[in-house]
Amino acid sequence: MNQPSTIRSSFAVLASGRGSNFQALLDRMADTSLPVRCTRLITDNPGAYAIKRAEFAAVPVSIVPYGEFPSRAEYEQVLATVMAQTGADLFVLAGYMRILGAGIVRQFPGRIINIHPALLPSFPGLHAQRQALAHGVKVAGCTVHFVTEEMDAGPIILQRCVPVLDGDDEETLTERILVEEHICLPEAVRLFCEGRLRLEGRKVIQT
Ligand code: GRF
Repeated sequence: MNQPSTIRSSFAVLASGRGSNFQALLDRMADTSLPVRCTRLITDNPGAYAIKRAEFAAVPVSIVPYGEFPSRAEYEQVLATVMAQTGADLFVLAGYMRILGAGIVRQFPGRIINIHPALLPSFPGLHAQRQALAHGVKVAGCTVHFVTEEMDAGPIILQRCVPVLDGDDEETLTERILVEEHICLPEAVRLFCEGRLRLEGRKVIQT
């Protein structure tokens, strides 16, 4: 993985659905606390609400409709080309609901980050909040991490935690975590773009 060392100024977002994390990034850009450019939204889902958010913010959109490709390999080939064409320094997976193939991860080493709604390494994969509730944890949260070939296992950039309350169900816990996601993700993008993240083994050091 490359050591980010220089100041980088642009990112592209990959999102599959609602796009509230994408919106959090757009909001921080609008209030100037995140002084970087979003060069493109890339989505695999033509019905994603994130597309509307992009249009409203005048961010160009690329739809790479997963369902219309004969194979995953062909989908990923086009996705990789679209990603490269954005010219972005950083790719932010913000509710991107597919696993990125190893080829793409290797093509952009140290330049892809993901937000996950659990305190990794606990509860990777789908339905993280449901997993946390089922396990009976008292503290939950979110993690922004570098993407590596192993799902939800890359070096951790930032985490924020929330209490799990006795009366919580999946919806209430998800809502509480989401508030923290919207803080955590823009902060991680800012640190990356300011060149303030250094990797030591699998540890991310803030400089
Ligand atoms: C978030 O909970 C994120 O952590 C997970 O997918 C959800 C996406 O939500 N990866 P949104 O589309 O950003 O609203």
